[in-house]
Parts: sequence; structure tokens; C-alpha cells
Amino acid sequence: MINTIDYHHIFSEIASEFKEVDDLGAIANYIPELGKVDPTKLGVHLTTVDNQHYAFGDADEPFSIQSVAKVLSLTLALKIMGGDLWNRVGVEPSGSPFNSLVQLEYEKGIPRNPFINAGAIVICDILVTCLDDPKNDLLAFIRKISGIDSINYSSKVAESEKKCGYRNYALVNLMKDFGNIHNDVDIVLDLYFYLCSIEMTCKELTNAFMFLASGGMNPIINERVISLTRTKRINSVMLTCGFYDEAGEFAFRVGLPGKSGVGGGIVAIHPGKFCIAVWSPKLNAKGNSYKGMKVLEALTTKTKCSIF
Ligand code: DON
Repeated sequence: MINTIDYHHIFSEIASEFKEVDDLGAIANYIPELGKVDPTKLGVHLTTVDNQHYAFGDADEPFSIQSVAKVLSLTLALKIMGGDLWNRVGVEPSGSPFNSLVQLEYEKGIPRNPFINAGAIVICDILVTCLDDPKNDLLAFIRKISGIDSINYSSKVAESEKKCGYRNYALVNLMKDFGNIHNDVDIVLDLYFYLCSIEMTCKELTNAFMFLASGGMNPIINERVISLTRTKRINSVMLTCGFYDEAGEFAFRVGLPGKSGVGGGIVAIHPGKFCIAVWSPKLNAKGNSYKGMKVLEALTTKTKCSIF
């Protein structure tokens, strides 16, 4: 039950315990602009489906959400294109790093899932085809489902990625060769880099993702985002694919559907109960927030409450 968990008490325990935890991660400096972030930041915000808020640390500071945004682009693409989308991108865990090229060659340009870079690039291609003004329409969608009009892209981060995104250029070109990219590769990548550069706070992330905790409806703004069935699909792909070659480890330790980004953010969902966002910029070897994963493990351990 929601109300029997003392989140205030649990959060104060976690906040004091984590002051003592050494951060063994490293900041993602393959995108030079991300290398400028203060590595000591730690923010957590949890919003329950009945709109109770619990937070500590730097939860109100915007950061680069990176691949966390891939859940929102998938949601919009599913709304527009429906289930045909799954002919162009799979729903299987890749077991490979997020930017790997290896499977894509064997599997003829069909990415394993929409959260590895290749899959998210195909989703961007779909959005370029279907939207009149893809960047603005995508941003408008995210503002609408979160109820927050100030959410924006960072052109500095997007430009920084564009300069150094050699692997993403390789992925999009390989998929173009296989016929799974229908638009100009530069236009598709431009949308992809902007998608990854969206900045949000932990609190804003819980607003935007709340629909996944409550059957497709965002109860905070009383808005249906997507159907119950598609909510199930998105949460299940988050559980099996949200952490790339560490998806098993996240399910094993945390036991919630979630999605990470190389900005150090993680969003996790407890369907029917809450949405939580954590931000700590230093990443483990698999590109997921080192402390972020540990905070979420502590949460589901202390609350004795995961989906399992
Ligand atoms: O394309 C990239 O490499 C980044 N913009 C996004 C990667 C990412 O966030 C992977 N997540 N853990």
C-alpha cells in the first residue's frame, strides 16, 4: 500500500548513507559538454500516483536527460504509428553496449530494441516522417504530458554530440544501407541529438513519466497519454532493455522498469504506486549512473517493494 511506506524516513536514511558512499563511477566525457557537469551532484525525487512528493539533494536542478528521453520519443512514435512500429525495431534485450554496431550488421539493420542508440535513431526517423516540425512537435508533446512548459533542449549539448557522434553516424548509415532509415541521415541524427540534449530536473522527470505508473494516464494533469496496453509494452521494454547490457543487473538489484541516460539520470516506475527519478553524473562501466543504481537498490530494499 502506498501510504504505509514512510518515504520521508527512508529518504533521510538513504541521503545520510550516501554521503559516505565513494562514487567509483566516471563522468561521460565522450560528449565534451557533459564533461563539464559537477560530478558530486545527487538528486532524487519520488512522486506517488496520488501526487505525494518526496525528494532530497539536487532534485530541482536541470540536467541532460540523454537516453532517458528515448522513452518519450518511443511513446510519441507509438501514438502516431501504432504497432507497425515494431516491424522496424525489436523488443529484445541486446546484451550489448548502447552504441554497439555488431548486432546491427547480423540483423540486417533492425535494431534489437528502441532504447539502444540504433533503435532510438529509427524512432527519430519515424518521427521525421510523421511530424510537420519534428523538434518542436516532440518538445510540445513532452511539455504537454508533463504539464511543464519550460522544458527545453540544450543546443550546446546537441552541438557537442554532433561534433563527436561518430558511432551514431556509423549506426545511421549502416541502417540507411539496409533500408531501415527513410529520411536524410543528417536530418534524422539532428533530431536524435536534440532528443538526447533535453534538460529536466528529477521532479520534472517524475511528472513526465507519471503516466507509466498509472496505466497511461497522468493523474497530476488529468491527461491520458497512451492506452493501458501500450503502457504495459513500454514498461516491459524498459524492464528488459532500459539498461543495455546491464538490464539483468538492474532488474536483479532494483526490480523496477527503468531507463538510464549518460547524463547520470535514471527514471524508474512502480506501476500503480510511484515514479522516481535519480541523478548522479558519474557512470559505471556500462554507462549507467553508479550511485543512481545504488540509491534505487536501497529504495526497493528498504521499502521491501519492487514489482517482484
Ligand atoms: O548517443 C549517445 O551516445 C548519447 N546521446 C546517449 C547515450 C545514452 O544516454 C546511453 N545511456 N545510458
